[in-house]
Amino acid sequence: MPLGVETRFLVLRDRFSLAGRTALVTGASRGIGRSIAIAFAEQGADLVLSSRKADALEAVATEIAALGRRAIVIPAHVGREDSIDALADRIEREAIAIDVLVNNAAVNPVMAGVLDLDPGAWRKVIDANVTGSFLLTRRIARGMVERGRGAIVNVASVGGLRVGPGLAAYDVSKAALIHLTRALAVELGPRGVRANAIAPGLVETRMAEALFRNEAGYRAYVSSNPLRRHGQPDEIAAAALFLASDAGSYTNGEVLVVDGGSVI
Ligand SMILES: NC(=O)c1ccc[n+]([C@@H]2O[C@H](COP(=O)([O-])OP(=O)(O)OC[C@H]3O[C@@H](n4cnc5c(N)ncnc54)[C@H](OP(=O)(O)O)[C@@H]3O)[C@@H](O)[C@H]2O)c1
Repeated sequence: MPLGVETRFLVLRDRFSLAGRTALVTGASRGIGRSIAIAFAEQGADLVLSSRKADALEAVATEIAALGRRAIVIPAHVGREDSIDALADRIEREAIAIDVLVNNAAVNPVMAGVLDLDPGAWRKVIDANVTGSFLLTRRIARGMVERGRGAIVNVASVGGLRVGPGLAAYDVSKAALIHLTRALAVELGPRGVRANAIAPGLVETRMAEALFRNEAGYRAYVSSNPLRRHGQPDEIAAAALFLASDAGSYTNGEVLVVDGGSVI
């Protein structure tokens, strides 16, 4: 018997639910990570919130508690292996089963051409944006594989698809994160774990402040963008929800570009 339109709508809506699931979001204290954590909580998930600063994370945890969901704060530095291990150890010790991992924290401390790029700055970017995601995924995905289900969402960038001047380290890190996502999709897919990436365009957050201050660069971005505007963090969170939930159950190894059409 075919389902009625109303019933089909309800079934589809339920696929975006994260009720009964627990998500770990890095860089959850502000910007895109905070929006993702709140969107997940609104859809019924409990959260583990991580970034370097506990105070800012506690404020997000309070917002999540007001939504009736549980949020645990575990500060960690994604550029440091000992710190990532401490985060994963605590999750194991408290027997928290992570269903969704969002590798969102990243750094972009330098703007310099390749010939002027300080090797220390290069390492800092690669350590945090690529190696950090690899190390945390390596620890967290083990439990997902044991349970035979899980979703990994890596927040990359359009810079991982198209290189911008002075952004070599950052763009290379995001290209590597996209390829790490694909490797995970191939290796973990058969074990019930999906891995996908999001490639945001320009989004209004603290990380992008320098790009907003560069008036000529900002005008060029907006005027060449088919939607003629920059993005907001909750527009990235919506994409993360699709990839993390059963709505994205047949989406694996994908790079979802959320940029108003700027890279077309
Ligand atoms: N905004 C954009 O236009 C844009 C475009 C494309 C991609 N993205 C990507 O979106 C993601 C989120 O960035 P955002 O724009 O939301 O930036 P944001 O507002 O500056 O937030 C960055 C978050 O990462 C945390 N963080 C920074 N360094 C960290 C470290 N070493 N270890 C752990 N946590 C760290 C920060 O918290 P603490 O200070 O407490 O550590 C904060 O929670 C990043 O992967 C970024 O590359 C952003």
